[in-house]
Amino acid sequence: MYSPSQIRDNFDFASRTVAGRPLVYFDNAATSQRPRCVLDLQDELCRRHNANIHRAVHTISFEATDFYEKGRAAAQKFLNAASPDEIVLTSGATAAINLVAQCMARGGFIGQGDGILITEAEHHSNLVPWQMVCAQVGAHLEVVPVRAGKDTANDGAIDLDAFRAALRRGVKMVAVTHASNILGVVNPVREMVLEAHALGIPVLIDGAQGIVHRRVDVQELDCDFYAFSGHKIYAPTGIGVLYGKREWLEKLPPFMGGGDMVEKVTFEKTTYADIPLKFEAGTSNFVGGACLAPALEFAASLAEDEQVCTHEKALMSAMDKALGFVDGLFLAAKEAADRIPLYTFTIEGVHPLDAATLLDKMGVALRSGHMCAEPIVDRIGGGSMLRASLMPYNTVEEVEIFSDAMQKVVKMLR
Ligand SMILES: Cc1ncc(COP(=O)(O)O)c(C=O)c1O
Repeated sequence: MYSPSQIRDNFDFASRTVAGRPLVYFDNAATSQRPRCVLDLQDELCRRHNANIHRAVHTISFEATDFYEKGRAAAQKFLNAASPDEIVLTSGATAAINLVAQCMARGGFIGQGDGILITEAEHHSNLVPWQMVCAQVGAHLEVVPVRAGKDTANDGAIDLDAFRAALRRGVKMVAVTHASNILGVVNPVREMVLEAHALGIPVLIDGAQGIVHRRVDVQELDCDFYAFSGHKIYAPTGIGVLYGKREWLEKLPPFMGGGDMVEKVTFEKTTYADIPLKFEAGTSNFVGGACLAPALEFAASLAEDEQVCTHEKALMSAMDKALGFVDGLFLAAKEAADRIPLYTFTIEGVHPLDAATLLDKMGVALRSGHMCAEPIVDRIGGGSMLRASLMPYNTVEEVEIFSDAMQKVVKMLR
């Protein structure tokens, strides 16, 4: 069982100061901090086990390969995938989604006149790759609206009637976020998979935010693809996970060619390695891959701990209170039925960039701008918003510091 201070004890950054004050790091949705178990392994691998994986027959290469494959096995376990073959290691969620988009197009699974369904609240990483495919093959985007904004119901829910109607307009691929990095709302992805599958349409879930705060069982979810980034869930940057159902990974052509993804190469013809290596061209980020093991084991140990769940609830109710105190604050998806600890907001008469700059001078790190989801932020936040996102290593005391700082900043800027 972890008490809030025991969780925090795992993080060296917890003792950092900014502007002479203890750092309140509330930009976790951009990247999380790494616990000591991850940093120690990262260091150990670089110092003692640094070799290229999969190729050589010497000891150090075997060691490095073994660590890397343990990372893959940890991702398999964390997602409850049926086999490690269904886990492709990429450089992040962005690379994973681009991989699926390009492979679907190159394999002829999306073509001229076909629809690709996304929602209005997608991160650019689950929008631009599909837009690129549209330009390549003559497909089009079907964008399903969400209920968010100042002048409408504001629960952040996807308009499921619009989703159902769009599915029937020649959609060949659904790509939807598990939890939006702006709204913080957890989408009914199981229901959406069921509806898409009833029409034979494959589904990719962008789990970059969802995986951090919800347990995911890809077999139960039955999605075709699930993508996430290591660095948002305690692992280093530059490593990501793409889960793909075996039947899809086997029939998709590879996206990138190079070393490690081949079986036999001649000038006339190349045959490819089996999955998942078919999709892992070039020297992989073996340190990042290996670090998925301690990172995901740490995440799982927190997720299974009742005391941590109670602490997360306490953080969220403290945040509700803190945001409620600010006069003129508009919170995106305020009435969300199921929210992760992620809050994106505007404050009347206060520019988000000014507020974030002043908050930094008080040691409080918040994100400002469009946060890589420009269409939704343009519509509900006038192009720029503020975002506070929390992890279990944050504390209620930090929320109180954030609350005081916000009050001061609003007074200074109005
Ligand atoms: C919902 C969502 N999808 C995708 C991404 C892209 O992740 P990365 O930049 O690590 O590839 C992010 C990152 O913020 C995100 O929040």
